[in-house]
Parts: sequence; C-alpha cells; structure tokens
Amino acid sequence: MTDTAFKPRVFSGIQPSGGLTLGNYLGAMKRFVSMQAEPFETIYCMVDLHAITVWQNPTELRDNTRELCAGFIASGIDPEVSTLFNQSQVPEHTQLAWIFNTVARMGWLSRMTQFKDKAGKNKEAVSVGLFAYPALMAADILIYHATHVPVGEDQKQHLELTRDIATKFNHDYKVNFFPITEPVIEGAGTRVMSLRDGLKKMSKSDPSDMSRINLTDSPEQINLKIQKARTDSAGLPSELSGLEGRPEAINLVNIYASLSDISVERVLNEVGGTSFSEFKKTLSELAVSKLSPISKEMSRLTKETTEIDRILGRGAERARAIASPILKKTYEIIGMIQ
Ligand code: AMP
Ligand code: TRP
Repeated sequence: MTDTAFKPRVFSGIQPSGGLTLGNYLGAMKRFVSMQAEPFETIYCMVDLHAITVWQNPTELRDNTRELCAGFIASGIDPEVSTLFNQSQVPEHTQLAWIFNTVARMGWLSRMTQFKDKAGKNKEAVSVGLFAYPALMAADILIYHATHVPVGEDQKQHLELTRDIATKFNHDYKVNFFPITEPVIEGAGTRVMSLRDGLKKMSKSDPSDMSRINLTDSPEQINLKIQKARTDSAGLPSELSGLEGRPEAINLVNIYASLSDISVERVLNEVGGTSFSEFKKTLSELAVSKLSPISKEMSRLTKETTEIDRILGRGAERARAIASPILKKTYEIIGMIQ
C-alpha cells in the first residue's frame, strides 16, 4: 500500500559502471520513461558513489557517467520534466547514508544476496562500501521521501531493506517521517536473462559480449546476437504452459513481449507453432527498430559534453533543493544541533 501522507515521487538510479544493456532498458529505463506523468514527480540518478564500491578507472567513470546521462535522454527521459543528476554532486545522499549505517543492522546487510554474489569467497578483500551499499541506496531514495521506485527484479531485496530502515527509524524516533517505499517491478522485462544462458541475468559485467545486447550495438550486432542466442530444439508453443522448464525460450518471448508492450500470452498467440529461426528474425527486426533510434541519439548526445554537464549540474541543484530540508529535519529528529 502506498503511504498517502507523502507526495507521489519516483526515484531510481543506475550505476555508471560501463554500458547500458537491454536488461537495463526493459527492466528499468522504459518504466522510468512511462512514469514521467501525473501524479508523479520523477528523479533519476547516475549512482557514481555506488559504482566505486568496486574499482572504476577515473577517466572511464567520467565518460560512463556522461554516456549514461545520454542514454537516459535518448531513451525518452526529458530533463525538463525529470531531475537528472549524478549522486556525488548531492552530498545529502552520503550524509543520510551515514545515519542509515547506524540504523541498519549487520545481520540485515549480511543477508543481501547481491553482496554475497559480488563478494563471493573474497569477503575479507572487498571494500567496506560494497557491504554498506544498500544503506546508501536507502538514503538515495529516502532523502527525497520517494514513494515509488521502479527497478528490475534483482533489486527487490534492497528495496525491502529500504522499507526496513524507514520503519526502524520511524519506530526508534517515534515519528512518521520516512515513507515506506513501493517497489515498481512489473511486466515481462523485469528479469532479462543472458542470451547464452537462460538461468543467468543479462549483465554488463558478463565476460561474453554475445550474452547481452548493448544499447550501443549496431543493427548488425543485434541481429547476430539474436541469431546466435541459445534456444532448445522444440518450436514455439501457443500456450504459456508450453514454456515451462525452457528458460532460453521464456527469455526470448519475454524480450519480445516487453519490447512490443504486449502480454506474453498475446505473443504466443501470434507466434505459436513457428520455428525459432523464424521467430528470431521477427525479434531481430523488432529489436533493431526499437533500439537503433536510441543508439543513434545516444552516440550523438554523448559527444555534447558541455550540454550533458549543464543538464547534470542543473539536475543536482534541483535535487539539493528537495534533499536539503529533509536532511535538516532528520538532524533535528535525531537531536543534532545545527
Ligand atoms: P545496474 O546496471 O546494476 O545499475 O542496474 C540498473 C537498473 O537496471 C536496475 O533497476 C536493475 O534492476 C535493472 N537491470 C539490470 N540488469 C537487468 C536485467 N538483466 N533485467 C532486468 N532489469 C535489469
Ligand atoms: N543498486 C541499484 C542497481 O545496481 C542502483 C541504485 C542505487 C538504485 N541507488 C538506487 C536503484 C536507488 C533504485 C533506487 O541496480
């Protein structure tokens, strides 16, 4: 249930850690675009402080942040309507994150699957920031009193932790100050899988470039990757039950449904009975027609560094105007003298 005491406000973030994938686009960006309407106010952030929880080359971080900003705009985020900025330029995020480090419990953070996956067997050697990552993410959201957070399925646990932090803060200080945020995880694109392995998430960090479609890929690359995508030997079913236990088939059908904004059932209605080679041709054409305009606009905008930096600078100012009074009030609640 949405907390009605708060203004409907959307916040979400993407790490500028190099390259946007079809997973980012279908799982996150597309929803970011569609939420830019009444009653919502929308705030979207390039979370550079999250990116540096694992090593980032400084030159690449700068380029990736600009490219990500270009990707937001090319996908349909209007910087006049939405506030677009990079996290490090609004210090209130880290100030609130410190407070949340004192609210979140070691046990809560230790249970985060993303931390366990990223740290692997190497828990002693990863940064403290990688462990504290979800408390900063909660601060990103709650420093704006955001009520809705569109994300892909993999962020669900972090959003539950954000709710836990808000609940504990409100309870400990006997206030109703932070909203209990609603995750927005909807549609066929919330979990786009690797094109090489239907059980693995499509990710910019996968060593194989053939496993993902990048928003910067040319039509030829998109075509090749879809033609080479792993499938099983059966054809396409006309009913949902025919996809059971077929992760690669489910993935391609989900991608088709999400790209064309229709239900999986309708896709199967249309393509049931055809072979994968035929379906892959249609899917390629669809993917190229949807992604090419974004890719072209993104590469044009990425070169306009002055304009991108101006948009980010103005976005940070707008963001601070909301964040600063919320931090001030938080300090008051805690008993800090200013
Ligand atoms: P990241 O690139 O990890 O910062 O993720 C940014 C956003 O994209 C988050 O909302 C993720 O949940 C979403 N996302 C990333 N990869 C995928 C994927 N393979 N399928 C669906 N959503 C994804
Ligand atoms: N952790 C998110 C990811 O990797 C990125 C992120 C940081 C985020 N802060 C956020 C997403 C706040 C939504 C809201 O995908």
